[in-house]
Amino acid sequence: MTPQQIELIRRSHALIAPQAERAGTLFYHHLFTLAPALQPLFIGDIRQQSARLMQMIGAAVGLLDRPQELLPVLAHLGARHAGYGVQARDYQVVGVALLETLQEALDAAFDSETRAAWTAMYALVSTTMIAAAHAESAPQTA
Ligand code: HEM
Repeated sequence: MTPQQIELIRRSHALIAPQAERAGTLFYHHLFTLAPALQPLFIGDIRQQSARLMQMIGAAVGLLDRPQELLPVLAHLGARHAGYGVQARDYQVVGVALLETLQEALDAAFDSETRAAWTAMYALVSTTMIAAAHAESAPQTA
């Protein structure tokens, strides 16, 4: 990711952070509308889950310029997700729900460059998580 993209993400994230609860609710609304079959995977309290998701996004935004710290956090998160029953293909619809949420929450501030920056960030986050989940489930060769 370029320094300009990181700056665009930080600026737009700062606009959402004060309305994190609303953004979290919007996100799960979009996700379960797009993919109702994913709803039963969420067995815990959805408000708490929403708060954790927003917290994790905030942490990732803060660490975008320190990949050596961010990548292991994402790898652990991805490995935990394999345990929640999440499949690699589920990441696509979660990305769509995230972009829809950002569009709704940011409105005019979500211009094409900001959208491209978040798309790049989601690609980084999801590929790192998926790779770690895959490594976890791969048979040991040693
Ligand atoms: C790629 C970005 C994602 C991020 C940043 C993220 C973040 C989180 C966080 C912070 C938690 C709290 C528990 C923990 O830390 O282990 C969590 C739990 C969970 N996530 Fe994700 N997640 C992502 C993708 C996904 C995808 C693609 C799915 C597919 C459906 C998913 C489904 C779940 C489920 C089922 C739980 C457990 C909920 C429960 O126990 O009720 N997540 N996620």
